[in-house]
Amino acid sequence: MDYTPLFSKAVRRSKASAIRELLKVIAQPEIISFAGGLPSPDLFPADEIAAIMKQVILEHPEASLQYGATEGQAALKKELITLLKETEDITATPEQILVVSASQQALDMTARAFVNEGDCIITAAPTYLGALQAFTAAGADIRGAKSDENGVLPEDVEALLADLKKQGKPCKFIYLVPDFQNPTGTTIPEERRLKLLALAKKYDTFILEDSPYRQVRFEGTAPRTFYALDQGHGNVITMFTFSKVLVPGFRLGFIVGPEEVIRKFVILKQAIDLCTSPLLQMATAAYLRGGHLKRHIQTLVASYREKRDLMLKTLAEVMPEGVTWTRPQGGLFLWLTLPKHMDAMALLSKALERKVAYVAGVDFYPDCKTKNDLRLNFSYSSHAQIVEGLKRLAQTIKENL
Ligand SMILES: Cc1ncc(COP(=O)(O)O)c(C=O)c1O
Repeated sequence: MDYTPLFSKAVRRSKASAIRELLKVIAQPEIISFAGGLPSPDLFPADEIAAIMKQVILEHPEASLQYGATEGQAALKKELITLLKETEDITATPEQILVVSASQQALDMTARAFVNEGDCIITAAPTYLGALQAFTAAGADIRGAKSDENGVLPEDVEALLADLKKQGKPCKFIYLVPDFQNPTGTTIPEERRLKLLALAKKYDTFILEDSPYRQVRFEGTAPRTFYALDQGHGNVITMFTFSKVLVPGFRLGFIVGPEEVIRKFVILKQAIDLCTSPLLQMATAAYLRGGHLKRHIQTLVASYREKRDLMLKTLAEVMPEGVTWTRPQGGLFLWLTLPKHMDAMALLSKALERKVAYVAGVDFYPDCKTKNDLRLNFSYSSHAQIVEGLKRLAQTIKENL
């Protein structure tokens, strides 16, 4: 049986994520990996979670083990509304929130809800690879706007928007990771956010705000979210996830947006997975109610800040002239730029021979134009691995300069 002619266009368009493929190669214990975007497993609050899960199941066996409402559990939404108000000064109603199976599902649903084959969207270049995958599967024509150390350039976004308008094509949405971006670690300052928001309004489109690293801030003051800055005008749909601040294995997150959009998303979700696990929603609600999240984030921030500092210090000590990197104020990643003539993808096989891994930057560009940059994750490796891995990487770069 040959399945090839039977596959849908979506499947034919899709290619495997370079990172997920790479994660299989680097599973060997002797490889030091700066490749994945993985939180540090030694910080998972396993005992606390186990106790809460047991309590939820014993106290509410019917609700926690039964199917739940597609919209999400009322008890969790109540906690989310409090969290949004306290941490982001965002006022939301239960009808403006949809609980999802983490933010990757939110990206997929947004693409399904807004993108017909050939429709244009704008993203920063580079941007999160998993978003590019979801948008590509939906058939989006992705236009990448240039970025600098403060994130995407509003003038470049405007040039793309104006160009699309001239061609009579609407921009369905502008996808942004505004805080400690994956992959570069950069944050968009508030002034630039306001300019981008004004552009969304001017060109009748919306900003899809995806900010999983926002709470992992080591220093400085957070700019307000796009959603808060929009003040309820409907030009922003935002999404949150518990993957980076609690555990990715829960696969739990939520979307906040205009009620009419959330209603459409609910119908899509009915077809995708009926509902997000009620057990995990109830456990997360109990975790939030107990005030554990705030304390846990403080632990994460302290640990990742130390690792970021160690990575920056070691890079300064071991990297040859001509190599530069970003200095993120939070999150999980930094972005390293090699001299122009070097190709980070070609270098990866040499790095793997030396038992160190990273992700080549090319995978994060919608148009695959830039070759000489790469992403380094600092949350997953131990202190000793960070020092040793960077020495190996520096040696590989020096040998191939
Ligand atoms: C920017 C961004 N969005 C979304 C995701 C997906 O995360 P999850 O589906 O676990 O919430 C990630 C994961 O690394 C990410 O970096």
